[in-house]
Amino acid sequence: MATLAPHSDGRSDRTRPTAPTPRAPGGVPGLGHVVPLLRDPLGFMESLSRVGGVVETRLGPRRVRVVTAPALVHELLVALAHDAPRGAVQQTLKDAFGDGLLMSDGQAHRDRRRSMGAAFTKARVADYVPIIQSVVKERIAGWGDGRLVDVEREMNHLALDVVTRTLFGARLDDDLAAAFHRALPDLVKGQIVHSLAPHPAFVRLPLPVNRRFDEAVRVIHQVVDRAVGERREGLGEGVREGAREGEDDGREPTLLSLLRAAVDPATGAPLTEDDVRAEAITMFGAGTETVSTTMTWLLHELARHPDVLARVVAELDGRLGPVAGAASDALTPEMFDHLPYTANTLREVVRLHTPNAFLMRTASRDVTLGPYRVPAGTELLFSLTALHRHPDFFPDPHTFDPGRWDAEGPAGAAARRAAMPFGAGKHKCVGENLAWAELGVAAATILRTLRLVPVPGREAREVVWTTVQAQGLAMAFAPRTDADAAVDL
Ligand code: HEM
Repeated sequence: MATLAPHSDGRSDRTRPTAPTPRAPGGVPGLGHVVPLLRDPLGFMESLSRVGGVVETRLGPRRVRVVTAPALVHELLVALAHDAPRGAVQQTLKDAFGDGLLMSDGQAHRDRRRSMGAAFTKARVADYVPIIQSVVKERIAGWGDGRLVDVEREMNHLALDVVTRTLFGARLDDDLAAAFHRALPDLVKGQIVHSLAPHPAFVRLPLPVNRRFDEAVRVIHQVVDRAVGERREGLGEGVREGAREGEDDGREPTLLSLLRAAVDPATGAPLTEDDVRAEAITMFGAGTETVSTTMTWLLHELARHPDVLARVVAELDGRLGPVAGAASDALTPEMFDHLPYTANTLREVVRLHTPNAFLMRTASRDVTLGPYRVPAGTELLFSLTALHRHPDFFPDPHTFDPGRWDAEGPAGAAARRAAMPFGAGKHKCVGENLAWAELGVAAATILRTLRLVPVPGREAREVVWTTVQAQGLAMAFAPRTDADAAVDL
């Protein structure tokens, strides 16, 4: 039954022209579209944009509608935010970790987001930049000796260190970081399998994917408890002394202190330790893999595009002076406003390798999405990665081309409107400022210190779970010298 709620175009549901929702081709009886989705998840999602703006698929008995058009995804996230709350992808995490910001909705979400906002403002992120820079320098310290570097593992460790030190004022020992790194792939693999499984009972079957998911959840709880929970009593086991940069710096609170000071506006009661832990886990989950896969893809693309690499290095050298170590070494967030080619290169890597491959919402009442009627209870699936490979908005979409972001006129404007790697609306990524700072600082520090030495046959492979992983990238690095700078320029 249609309702009369207003939409972003000002027309009510009843006065909008409607269109039938097309079905995705290639379904088989019983399984529906499970096979093409498993075989080539992004290829399948990309192919649906040729079928319609909203397309009906079947996952066994489940009917799931895929939203393929950028304007409709935007409408879903912004205009329909209240009528289409979180879906199965987030529910899986909620079941495992509790009601953190990434999983919650409604008033609880609004209150929590308000309490935590101060830890993510542009001004606060500027305070984090020196911490990020020292994390990057520590991480890359041994890279220049010619050994083979497992880029994905190193970037994961780097992103984990940044979140731990900036938001929680703590440091993890290497064994904890390694355990976390091992657990994350099992988590995102289990998350997508559980979210898209044809039947809820699948989660309880004694399958390897379920066992590994449960084990990953256990490890992540353990890491977060040891890194964060025990800071109330003092430093936890596995958390090193003398690492309070982000915390108690005399100026601003950390995320952890904001959470511990927060109260429930309705009751005045402070958050429980479980609430604090759920938020901490959310930040570790949402704020590490996204950044580390993006950094891994960045190095992969730079190694494959020496022309782009040379322009980025020339721009960094021109602005900051060649080779790190000079007085110009201290980075600031504003600096990236004056590094347009570097900024476009980061933008392009986030477009082509957008981390969030699958997100979901569920219609809580009958709604209209563009011209499509969506009955209450419908599950809606969208892929920001597939969206950013839509050929109508990003010509030659699989080509890595930072220059596309300079395009003027309607085509450039349409691409900029269609790009939403951090989502939109009330659930838009709270960590966006921090993410750009991490990507910029890491890129500038690595590229001003080291020369990339690609290793044939060790390029990154795209593996798609809830995030788009860059698996297998290994690379060697050599220290940069003034002579390198001259060559690069
Ligand atoms: C390249 C890096 C990143 C990308 C592409 C990214 C992308 C996203 C996207 C698309 C969403 C919206 C999800 C939805 O609508 O269902 C989101 C939400 C979120 N992100 Fe990020 N993210 C990144 C980095 C970070 C970082 C560094 C943090 C924190 C340390 C973070 C924390 C969160 C949280 C807590 C949410 C939930 C926000 C809410 O619902 O209010 N993210 N992110």
